[in-house]
Amino acid sequence: MSEQTTPHILVVDDDRDMLETCRKMLSFGSYQVDTSDRPEEALEVYRRHCHDLVILDLKMPGMDGLQLMKCFHEIKKDQLVVMITAYASVENALQAVRSGAFDFVRKPFKMDDLLLVVERALRFKALQDENQKLQRKLSESFRAKEIVGRSRALKEALVKLHKVCEVDVPVLIYGESGTGKELFARAIHENSLRKEKPFLAIECAALPETLLESELFGYERGAFTGAVQSKAGLFEIASGGTVLLDEIGEMSPNLQAKLLRSLQEGCVRRLGGNQERPVDVRILAATHRDIEAMIQEKQFREDLYFRINVVRISVPPLREREGDVPLLANHFFDLFSPKVSKNVEGVSAAVLLILEEYDWPGNVRELRNVIERACTLTESTQILPQDLPAHILSAVEEKKSASGGDFQRAKHSLIEDFERSYLSKMLSRTGGNVTEAARFSGMSRPAFHRLMSKYKITSSDFKED
Ligand SMILES: Nc1ncnc2c1ncn2[C@@H]1O[C@H](COP(=O)(O)OP(=O)(O)OP(=O)(O)O)[C@@H](O)[C@H]1O
Ligand SMILES: [Mg+2]
Repeated sequence: MSEQTTPHILVVDDDRDMLETCRKMLSFGSYQVDTSDRPEEALEVYRRHCHDLVILDLKMPGMDGLQLMKCFHEIKKDQLVVMITAYASVENALQAVRSGAFDFVRKPFKMDDLLLVVERALRFKALQDENQKLQRKLSESFRAKEIVGRSRALKEALVKLHKVCEVDVPVLIYGESGTGKELFARAIHENSLRKEKPFLAIECAALPETLLESELFGYERGAFTGAVQSKAGLFEIASGGTVLLDEIGEMSPNLQAKLLRSLQEGCVRRLGGNQERPVDVRILAATHRDIEAMIQEKQFREDLYFRINVVRISVPPLREREGDVPLLANHFFDLFSPKVSKNVEGVSAAVLLILEEYDWPGNVRELRNVIERACTLTESTQILPQDLPAHILSAVEEKKSASGGDFQRAKHSLIEDFERSYLSKMLSRTGGNVTEAARFSGMSRPAFHRLMSKYKITSSDFKED
């Protein structure tokens, strides 16, 4: 699907009324729609147009939706398919998803239900297409293949990353925890002129001050109790390469002063030593803290800040990377699924939708952990919602119920029209037998009855005399 053209959708159902309803609903969503009530004809039409999305009824006489989906997939391996199922057992629908459908819609569906699934499917396709393009482009000139994502926010950061690689200046990388700051730092190094030399990262928050100092600058024998032999520090070991000072906001004032001195003079002095040793390293620093605010509060040296903040890159939080979650989820699935000795084929569409709704306070690292855990726990051939941590499921549920929907209100009357005609159709099929009609539509009898009362429909209108 190109960005300029109207998405083209093919709907296949043996029920012509249903086809017409779908055509109307989808046209309302400004899609270009083809319909067919015969599988052979549908395949013919598909061969000519290769639609962006195919919507199939699961139960059709002759060739059913699953078989037909297989035919589409034989023509185009990754064709997006959405199933419509009247026999709304979760089992049927899940089987469709397991067999390669992107998602399913249950009859009777409201226009919102259909349009929502269609929009998501098309967005997913657009993401996949874009991501492939982006990955191709990046891999031609730039070795950052492992940075997955195609959102505008990430792309902006990647453009900046690209620019700073070959300019040998210090870079300060900002970003919430788990956003990929270290990944960015590595990418800078790997695409710089220093790439053949070491890349060393040190976590400033994890080490007590004295240990961090000796790690960074090294020490001479006898510098402190236990220093039985001399040791070179990180700056010396990484000579010619790159050092990442991770969580630099946590560095003590004393060490900040020492670091500043080394950066200004281009040399280090080991603990307990007096020889100045020249060092040649590129400094990258990362932090999740607001360093400017720390300067105001006198917790961070302004002169050091100017040294390390020659260029700044902000890595966006995952909740601001629209569309990246499914790509990352699939990426991590590909990473972890070969490590579990199970036959897991993929992440189900239902899970991708849930993951997209979640806010990801722990960012990409949290997503990575969730997928790793799900690959280990799953007892199915797909990662299913029940393989996700309970707190994610409940957070998404809460979010959904809190958000009303202008979309829904705007189309309310059309939905009502649809529900009314669906009820009538079911009742006329069964000659006014409510129990049968409810069973036929996959609803409980009380639920069916409630809908009938809502629209003031009485079963006697459909009974034959
Ligand atoms: N865009 C991405 N594509 C693929 N993997 C990613 C991406 N961003 C982050 N990761 C992975 O997520 C994990 C966390 O990334 P990383 O350690 O770089 O984050 P960080 O910002 O340094 O985290 P922290 O603040 O906790 O130090 C790593 O396993 C990394 O490989
Ligand atoms: Mg980190």
